[in-house]
Amino acid sequence: MPDKIDYDTKIPNNVELSSDRRLQRALEGWQPKFMSWWGEMGPALETNGVYLRTAVSVGRDGWAHFDHVKVPEYRWGIFLTERKEDRRIAFGEHKGEPVWQQVPGEYRADLQRLIVIQGDTEPASVEQQKLLGLTAPSLYDLRNLFQVNVEEGRHLWAMVYLLHAYFGKEGREEAEALLFRNSGSPDAPRILGAFNEETADWLAFYMFTYFTDRDGKYQLGTLKESSFDPLSRTCEFMLKEEAHHMFVGTTGVDRVVQRSAELIREHDRMDIAPRGGIPLDIIQKYINFHYSVSLDLFGSETSTNAANYYTAGLKGRWQETRRKDDHQLTDDVGVLDKPRDDGTWDSEEMQAILLLNLDLRDEYVADCQTGVKRWNRILDEHEIGFRFKLPHPGFNRDVGINSGQHITPEGTIVDEATWQAGKSKWLPTSEDLTFVRSLMQPVYERGKIASWVAPPTNGINGKPFDFDYVHLT
Ligand SMILES: [Fe+2]
Ligand SMILES: [Fe+2]
Repeated sequence: MPDKIDYDTKIPNNVELSSDRRLQRALEGWQPKFMSWWGEMGPALETNGVYLRTAVSVGRDGWAHFDHVKVPEYRWGIFLTERKEDRRIAFGEHKGEPVWQQVPGEYRADLQRLIVIQGDTEPASVEQQKLLGLTAPSLYDLRNLFQVNVEEGRHLWAMVYLLHAYFGKEGREEAEALLFRNSGSPDAPRILGAFNEETADWLAFYMFTYFTDRDGKYQLGTLKESSFDPLSRTCEFMLKEEAHHMFVGTTGVDRVVQRSAELIREHDRMDIAPRGGIPLDIIQKYINFHYSVSLDLFGSETSTNAANYYTAGLKGRWQETRRKDDHQLTDDVGVLDKPRDDGTWDSEEMQAILLLNLDLRDEYVADCQTGVKRWNRILDEHEIGFRFKLPHPGFNRDVGINSGQHITPEGTIVDEATWQAGKSKWLPTSEDLTFVRSLMQPVYERGKIASWVAPPTNGINGKPFDFDYVHLT
């Protein structure tokens, strides 16, 4: 398994694709379909070169190369981290056995399903973000958007490679379907709800890359533990690219909060909308929305599917190998908080193995708290008393034990009328969305930035903020 990526072929790769002519031909047949999908569903803004990173190696250091690239000429390819000698299964009933280089027949359907679900999210986010380039607040942000988009395209390649290489005819059909379904399509929507929501403005984009890409990080983290070694190695490399997407989200929200805080101080008022800033309560509503729809991506709190995937060794826990237990969870118990019909909360003790989705979600929630802390620190520095909060995990949920209940951000179970009356304080209203949209005027001049967001403290790859990150036509 070469560390370096071969760029002399139609499809860049480090999987020695040329040694398997059938597979190579099949993927070369999929490539033009991907390109026409990208042309149709990818970024609407045409550019004449974007300062992008491209993976050149999968090793630890110097894995990426930066240069201006014409976006449709980006070299999407297949990159897996190196195979580890003697890697063993870390959990479940096969714990201790060598990992699988081929798909065991009995797990074929389940593994294919997991790969398709992951694969479906990657092009979905490109579709959701299609129009954002038309209103970018700076060339720096525009560049980051394109970087995220091309890498999500590459993540689709990563999953399609597995489908083609290991799942035969069915896998090839699923690879076609990944280009056929589209975000928000009434007839053939993407599989998961959050990936059918619009990413209509740049605050939503920062929230999406903070909360929804972060869900992706946790899902990839569980697949990285998989006993199916090619899946594990693919996800390990995807996680490397994913880190930048979360950086875009974290620092994006930082910069909005920073700018809003500056405007509040400067004008000595909380309502900064007339001054071209985004009021803090609107930012909070965006947090409430994006966080709650991202929690839905973790699935039901109790799940026999997740338990079966774990026992079979298909999908582990976050940082499975660092956990200090038997990695089989046969006797462990966990606690689930459940809303009762009388409006009170109940705690139920149950087998830990049935609560694996919740276990992963808890890790995610703790991670999300770190963002809230950062944003509150910015308010602190500006001596502003307002505090951002993550809403209760039962708030605004469509999946799991809280769906069908009305739960406030504080975690109070309320009736329909109270929910309807409170909704406009908790979630972005159409007026809020229209207002935020009204701020989204493109700023394409080098070194300039829109009114509602602060410039970044650092540029990309050591370049300054006023670097010519994007050449427009
Ligand atoms: Fe991704
Ligand atoms: Fe991502």
